[in-house]
Amino acid sequence: MKYQNDLRASVAASLSAGGIDLFEHLPYILQDLWAMGVSPEVVIELIKRHQVLDTCSKVVDLGCGKGAAAITIAKEFGCQVAGIDGMPDFIETAKSKSVEFGISELCSFVCADVRERIEKLKNFDLAVWGSVGSIFGSVEATLKALAGCLKPQGFLIYDDGYIREGREITLPLYIKRTELLKVIASTGFKIWEERKYDAEYIMYTETEMQKPIIQRCQELMQKIPQKKELFRQYITNQEREWREMEEDMECVTFLLQRSR
Ligand SMILES: C[S@@+](CC[C@H](N)C(=O)[O-])C[C@H]1O[C@@H](n2cnc3c(N)ncnc32)[C@H](O)[C@@H]1O
Repeated sequence: MKYQNDLRASVAASLSAGGIDLFEHLPYILQDLWAMGVSPEVVIELIKRHQVLDTCSKVVDLGCGKGAAAITIAKEFGCQVAGIDGMPDFIETAKSKSVEFGISELCSFVCADVRERIEKLKNFDLAVWGSVGSIFGSVEATLKALAGCLKPQGFLIYDDGYIREGREITLPLYIKRTELLKVIASTGFKIWEERKYDAEYIMYTETEMQKPIIQRCQELMQKIPQKKELFRQYITNQEREWREMEEDMECVTFLLQRSR
C-alpha cells in the first residue's frame, strides 16, 4: 500500500488539477467527455493496420479513465480487456458504458492504483498507456514498468508527448524526440508506428474538450462560490496546457513491441 495516500494526488496531477482540492469535483467537470486522452479511433487504426489482436488476445488499459479506449477495443476485436483507474467515478462510468455497448462480459474494470497493481499484471498481448503522464517518474521508468506486464513479443500503445525540436524549454519529465527514441530502444521496445497529430487535429480536439470543461467550471463557480478561485485556476491550468500542446509539444501515439 505504498502509494495509498497519494493516489488522489496522482489522479489530480494526471488531469492537470494541481493539488487534490479539485479531486472530488473532477467527475463533474469532466462529465461530458468519454475519451480524456488517447483517441480511441487512432488506437483501433494502429491495432488493425498491424494486426496486433484477435479474439483470444488479452489487453490491459492502465489509467483507463472512463474506458473509452478499452471498450472500443473490446467491441471491435471481441477480446478480453482489463481497465484500471484510480478515480472511482470513472470506473463506474466505464462499467456502465460496457453494459450499454453490450460487451460487459469482455471487460473488467477495477478502481486501483496502477503503481500498486502493475507488479501483478503479466502476460498481456497489448497494454494501453493513454495520456497517463509521469506517474512512474521518467519515461524510462514508465516504459520499464509497462514492459513487465507484456508477453515477450507483446505490444504497447504509448500515447504521450515530447518537446518539439528547436524549443529550448523545460517541461518537467518531458524530453525531446531524439532522446525519447533512445529510451524506447534502450528499454527493449521496437517502434511499429509513430502517429503524430497535425495542428488542425490538435486544435479541433482541444476545442471539443475545452468548451465543456470551461462550461462545467463556470457552473461550479456559481454553485460553490467559496471555491470560485479553485475552478478559475483549473481553467487557467487547462489553457496553459493546451497552449503548450500547440506551441511546445508534439502529441504522439506510438505502437511499440517488446523485443526482449
Ligand atoms: C488524462 S486521463 C486519461 C484517461 C484515459 N487513458 C483516456 O485516454 O481517456 C489520465 C487517467 O489516469 C488516471 N490515473 C492517474 N494516476 C493514476 C494511478 N496512480 N493509478 C490509476 N489511475 C491513475 C486518472 O484517474 C485518469 O483517468
